[in-house]
Amino acid sequence: MMDTQVGIVGAGPAGLLLAHLLRLQGVESVVLEARDRAYVEARVRAGVLEQGTVDLLSEAGVGDRLHREGLVHQGLELRFDGRGHRIDLSELTGGRAITVYGQQEVVKDLIAARLDAGGELLFEVDGVTLHDLEGEAPTVRFRHEGSEEELRCAVVAGCDGFHGVCREAIPAGTLSVYEREYPFAWLGILAEVAPSSEELIYCYHERGFALHSMRSPRLTRLYLQCAPDDDVAEWPDDRIWDELRTRLATDDQWTLGEGPIVEKGITPMRSFVVEPLRFGRVFLAGDAAHIVPPTGAKGLNLAVADVRVLSEALGAWFAQGDSAGLDAYSETCLRRVWRVQHFSWWMTSMLHRFPGGDPFDGRLQRSQLRYVCSSRAAATTLAENYVGLELV
Ligand code: FAD
Ligand code: DHB
Repeated sequence: MMDTQVGIVGAGPAGLLLAHLLRLQGVESVVLEARDRAYVEARVRAGVLEQGTVDLLSEAGVGDRLHREGLVHQGLELRFDGRGHRIDLSELTGGRAITVYGQQEVVKDLIAARLDAGGELLFEVDGVTLHDLEGEAPTVRFRHEGSEEELRCAVVAGCDGFHGVCREAIPAGTLSVYEREYPFAWLGILAEVAPSSEELIYCYHERGFALHSMRSPRLTRLYLQCAPDDDVAEWPDDRIWDELRTRLATDDQWTLGEGPIVEKGITPMRSFVVEPLRFGRVFLAGDAAHIVPPTGAKGLNLAVADVRVLSEALGAWFAQGDSAGLDAYSETCLRRVWRVQHFSWWMTSMLHRFPGGDPFDGRLQRSQLRYVCSSRAAATTLAENYVGLELV
């Protein structure tokens, strides 16, 4: 039997950052993670950090490497009909910017901070179940290193991602589910080659969406719209480079640098929200509560926004018995969640080819793209959402 104040399930960005922010306020927690450390540190996922995410990580003292190695971008490119159009993110948002820094680097930094501080972080836990969620002493049971364990806490934070157990532990019928599946997926690769552009390129093409991103001056991250039931085996390297070259081609001299592909994976696309984000003493945060399609680069940033609110609310509750923040947690977070849901759906709808879509759809998408690239008002809408809204 172990005791703590906050039992945190999941050591992704949400769970690890929550543990760190709680410790800064003197609140104790135990983090339980199903995978091993090497696995979570190697998992390639998102790469774009909003200004607010960077600011929070810096203020929390885990921004040193991020500032050294992260790539600050003040603009991005929208590419369609063989031409690129720059959206000047910083000029349109009073100087805000995004930073390109891989999610797994954020995770490594947070794990290091946790272990340096002597915080409890258990990897390779198995069979996590939640109990007594409506009472004052919820418990988390699990297996670790061959023994059955029980963690007694005041609050459980469900930070265990979309396929986790915390959301499922809430009685059926308690949560409302809002969701949309998209008829396409993303094939993502990491290639050992210098990026072919200094900024991200979001590309609309008849054959489907393509995205040029990066991780460092020697590593390029690229994505292609593919079918949701495609298997990576159907995407040998040559086919990937052919498709990327075709979709990203411009009328001028731009060329795509190619190099060895060191990572390849397919991600389904969905929009998903449960409401509310709380049941009794369990609070859901990050992907456990909501999923966005990746086109707006928001999943990780939204997870960070949730735990910022949750950590402050828990801090006030443990220190002063003030439950106002916890009572408002769900409503506060859902305002940002739905703004980001709309933005992610809008970017996705504007930039992807919808199988079976008629020519009318394509004309609307091009018109919207031209509008975003020619109207300051429309470009500002994209820019302020992309760098992250301060107030929602
Ligand atoms: P997660 O990072 O999923 O962390 C949850 C953690 O809980 C994991 O470590 C998991 O192992 C652990 N866990 C799960 N179940 C249990 C259990 N029963 N017991 C204990 N631990 C458990 N976003 C973008 O913006 N751009 C992208 O390109 C992009 N690509 C993605 C690719 C994939 C394959 C996925 C799944 C997501 C991607 N995302 C992307 C979304 C982004 O990575 C997520 O929004 C972000 O990881 C959310 O963080 P989180 O901490 O809430 O959840
Ligand atoms: C990356 C991922 C995204 O979803 C996105 O919109 C932009 C960049 C990336 O992994 O670099």
